[in-house]
Amino acid sequence: MKKKSKTSGRLRERPAWEALEEHYRKIRDLHLRSLFAEDPGRGERLTSEAAGIYLDYSKNRVTDETVRLLIRLAVECGLPEAIEAMFQGKKINVTEGRAVLHTALRAPRGERVIVDGQDVVPGVHAVLDRMAEFSERVRGGQWRGYGGRPIRNVINIGIGGSDLGPVMAYEALRHYSSGDMTFRFVSNVDGTDFAEATRGMDPEETLFIISSKTFTTLETMTNAFSARGWMLKALRHEEAIARHFVAVSTNAREVAKFGIDTANMFGFWDWVGGRYSMDSAIGLSTMIAIGPENFRLMLAGFREMDEHFRTAPFEKNLPVLMGLLAVWYNNFFGAQTVAVLPYDQYLKRFPAYLQQLTMESNGKHVTIEGLPVDYDTGPVYWGEPGTNGQHSFYQLIHQGTRLIPCDFIGFGRTLNPVGDQHDLLMANLFAQTEALAFGRTEGEVRAEGTPEGLVPHRVFEGNRPSNTILAGRLTPETLGKLVCLYEHSVFTQGTIWGVDSFDQWGVELGKALAKRIIPELESVEEPRLGHDSSTNALIRRYRSLKKAATRN
Ligand code: F6P
Repeated sequence: MKKKSKTSGRLRERPAWEALEEHYRKIRDLHLRSLFAEDPGRGERLTSEAAGIYLDYSKNRVTDETVRLLIRLAVECGLPEAIEAMFQGKKINVTEGRAVLHTALRAPRGERVIVDGQDVVPGVHAVLDRMAEFSERVRGGQWRGYGGRPIRNVINIGIGGSDLGPVMAYEALRHYSSGDMTFRFVSNVDGTDFAEATRGMDPEETLFIISSKTFTTLETMTNAFSARGWMLKALRHEEAIARHFVAVSTNAREVAKFGIDTANMFGFWDWVGGRYSMDSAIGLSTMIAIGPENFRLMLAGFREMDEHFRTAPFEKNLPVLMGLLAVWYNNFFGAQTVAVLPYDQYLKRFPAYLQQLTMESNGKHVTIEGLPVDYDTGPVYWGEPGTNGQHSFYQLIHQGTRLIPCDFIGFGRTLNPVGDQHDLLMANLFAQTEALAFGRTEGEVRAEGTPEGLVPHRVFEGNRPSNTILAGRLTPETLGKLVCLYEHSVFTQGTIWGVDSFDQWGVELGKALAKRIIPELESVEEPRLGHDSSTNALIRRYRSLKKAATRN
């Protein structure tokens, strides 16, 4: 969507952008069929491998010239300097005046990363060590509940980055998880979430982790108070709280106010964004599930990808290539979305995790200087694991009218060898990317003896782009690498668009309005409503539905 407005106009005036516009006009109708036919080595050439992750981007609507121009654009937009600024702890989250240092969370002991004159790495390791010690005590049954019983259930209460990362990582690494413990996650302020997560749980054996960077988030605090009530109802003594609640937060004052001993608090820092925090103390539930050793392996995976992103030339740099391809489709082909399709059931929450990472980061309408953009920014990310998605929405990707670039993710080996199922799974992945790229021509459809009336229905236009990402096995390390790959792809995209990928002002208005509406729903007296006519009527309707439900 091109908007007419007074804008900085900088991005679209860059020589590389203009060259890309011209180049797009030349190649937009080129079909992947001819690109592959003209260059038999394409499928091996347009690939890159780093840290055990193989990226095949040959089934994209690009030529060598496209990649060259996109890289030129990245350089013109200052990506090399931006990468260094991020790793060095410069305050690149300008609107919040903060450094952006999730990369320091996986820096090895001894490395120095300076923020406001202080090396932050020793603090990172001090927290990791405390987490490890605590996790081992919980896992080993030495950390006991108030009644002296070992902890068997861990419930993480958090939302957004304080939930999506922990849930995704727990699901992804379930294979490595302690089998004799139960892990649940409560995020929604809908009481159903809390009720179902605690159903059948014995409070004496349950540990709540209250995860909130700010410790003021309405949903999390509401659920935390419900948890407190649930626990006290069963255990009856305030002192029980210290054995059954720990906090993960940057806000020690609010943690203490809630009644959690700050000795049972695991901290992190304002330079870790919520959606970039799954490898900070926010990952405490992950560490209890998979153990400190596996958690450190996950961090090592992140680190390997960090180093690759920081040092590899752009033409071989996986996050840079993926980020630039996303820009290519978003801004030149007008693609609105990106589908992420992991062919691994353990990654079922990966697309949901990526939605916050990508869309909260790059869903921005002004540049970092506050000027309206005159180009589209962050696309919608979505997805489901294959093969389930194939029987649901792939129809639209294959034959619909929209262009949907896809990321397919698969592994060489399954963690659960059941017959030949893994080969079937991977055959489907490869078949989908092949069908999307090459389709089926009218001639081919006719040659199959298709009745004439069905020919148009059975034609696949093809030329639908995809990346294929392959790795050996889904291990903690691999998960770290995959998440990090997307983190830095998002950063690459945000840098091209010139937005602040680390703030999230867009979520504030709804929060403020909800605060105003809560008393209007709760008051016994009919409230005087001052909203628009739709919102006023909806509030009145809700109040009368509520009244009717109470009577019945
Ligand atoms: O409202 C959005 C948000 O601020 C996210 O960025 C964040 O991950 C989430 O809320 C939860 O915030 P907190 O960890 O402070 O509870």
